[in-house]
Amino acid sequence: MSSRKPIIAGNWKLNKNLKETLAFLAEIDGKLPSEDKVEVAIAAPAMYLIPLVHHRGNNPLKVSAEMFTSKIQVRSQVKHHLKHSQTKELNILLLVTQNVANISTKQMKTSIKKAHALFAAGVTPILCCGETLETFEAGKTAEWVSGQIEAGLKGLTAEQVSSMVIAYEPIWAIGTGKTATAEIADETCGVVRSVVEKLYGKNVSEAVRIQYGGSVKPETVEELMSKENIDGALVGGASLQAASFLGLLDIYK
Ligand code: PGA
Repeated sequence: MSSRKPIIAGNWKLNKNLKETLAFLAEIDGKLPSEDKVEVAIAAPAMYLIPLVHHRGNNPLKVSAEMFTSKIQVRSQVKHHLKHSQTKELNILLLVTQNVANISTKQMKTSIKKAHALFAAGVTPILCCGETLETFEAGKTAEWVSGQIEAGLKGLTAEQVSSMVIAYEPIWAIGTGKTATAEIADETCGVVRSVVEKLYGKNVSEAVRIQYGGSVKPETVEELMSKENIDGALVGGASLQAASFLGLLDIYK
C-alpha cells in the first residue's frame, strides 16, 4: 500500500436503465467512505450522467462516462468547470456543462488526441493499457504494455502525467471472471511505473496513480490494494449491484 490516494471506479458500460440507476444511488446513499481515504467514481452510460450528477446528493461520488472503441481507453476527471469545450465530443460537452467527473474512450490514436484535448479542457485523463491472452501467454506483457504507455503518454508534460491515472487492464481478465493474481497485477503496474520513471523521472512515477482492472471483486480487492504499485481498481461486473460496489469499498471504512 502506498501513500497515493486510492481510486476505485465502477464501470457500468451500457448496463442499467434510469430506474435502476436511481435505485442504486438510493442504496449507496450515506454509505460511501470518506473522500479523504478513497476517491470513488462510477462511469455510467452517457444518458444517465446528468441524473447521476443531480441525484448523487452529498455522496462523494465522481460521475464518469466511457466511450468504447478498442483496447486502449482514456478516462478522465473534471477538475474545473469550464464554460465551453474545445472539441465536439459529446461526453466532453456533457462533462463540461454538467461538471461530470470522469469520461473515457478506448482507441490509441484518438486517445492521445483526446488526452491532450481533455487536459486542455481542464480534465485529467486515465489512460488504460493491457495485453491480450496471446501476448500474456507468450510472456510479452511487459514489452507490450511499455509500448502502449510510451505511445499513450506522448507529448504530455510531467505535470500532466503526475496528475493523471493509468489503469492496467489485461484484456483477458475483463469481464471473463479470470483475474490476474495480485502478484501479476502488481508486477505489471510496476512495469508501468518504471516506464513513467524512465520518461519523466522519479517524482512523477511516485505521483501517478495506477489502477488494476479485470474481474475485480469484493473478495479480491483487499489483496490487490495491498500491493505497492496498485493504487485503485477499475471494476465492471462487481460495480453493478450496490451491495457489491459497497463491498469493494469496505476496506476504506
Ligand atoms: P470487469 O470489467 O470488472 O467486469 O472485468 C472491467 C472494466 O470494465 O474495466
